[in-house]
Amino acid sequence: MRKPLMAGNWKMNKTIPEAISVVKALKSAVADVTDVEILICPTFTALYAVSNEVKDSNINIGAQSLFWETKGAFTGEVSPVMVKDTGCSYVIIGHSERRQYFGETDEIINKKMKAAITIGLTPIVCIGETLKERECNITFKVIEKQTRGGLTGLTLEQAALVVIAYEPVWAIGTGKTATPDQAQEVHAFVRKIYAEMYKDAAEKIRILYGGSVNSGNVSELMKKPDIDGGLVGGASLEVESFAKLVKYSKQQL
Ligand code: 13P
Repeated sequence: MRKPLMAGNWKMNKTIPEAISVVKALKSAVADVTDVEILICPTFTALYAVSNEVKDSNINIGAQSLFWETKGAFTGEVSPVMVKDTGCSYVIIGHSERRQYFGETDEIINKKMKAAITIGLTPIVCIGETLKERECNITFKVIEKQTRGGLTGLTLEQAALVVIAYEPVWAIGTGKTATPDQAQEVHAFVRKIYAEMYKDAAEKIRILYGGSVNSGNVSELMKKPDIDGGLVGGASLEVESFAKLVKYSKQQL
């Protein structure tokens, strides 16, 4: 019932020509995929060019962040309407790198998420514990706080549109993936908290796993009932690895 979503977060990588050359090749590599929704999130500077390139294809485009105000004196920021204007349909919000390096709090994330929904962008809200938090056995406490804090104040209708990405910070870019059981345990917990907040919407939303996902580990992760897709960093930068990952269900045949 929930269509899997495979999202590539390119982070601060690729110039416009580099981005265009990857999506051109990706377009033909995944042209036959209908069972998985495909999303690429390039840097702001490449959004417009990339979204023009994927028009009329099965690839969606998302931004990696936005600001919550519509316009005005906010030097260096990009508003929700501007993100929408480039042709994006998604936006990543509250990635752990934004929390860590740019001081984004659950309160800021909540403002950004509401601004995204208001303009008609689907937010992918990131949550996840650090290694220290996992070792101190406070993973579930952290996850509950981030889920309730970042996702509060929606209508039931809005709540059903959200995507959540569980990205344990210790698994990002480290080659250390959470085991499918570890990920499933947290995903089920997130869905339970979300059901307490928004009832039936919890069954509708997709919860992605992120953190060293690659074409070798994706199909085991995707077998878990509460894992509805992946938010992929490194393995999304190359056409071959991302196309293979998107086609994970074919690997099982
Ligand atoms: P890696 O897949 O490179 O570990 O990055 C995960 C991530 O942060 C995606 O948002």
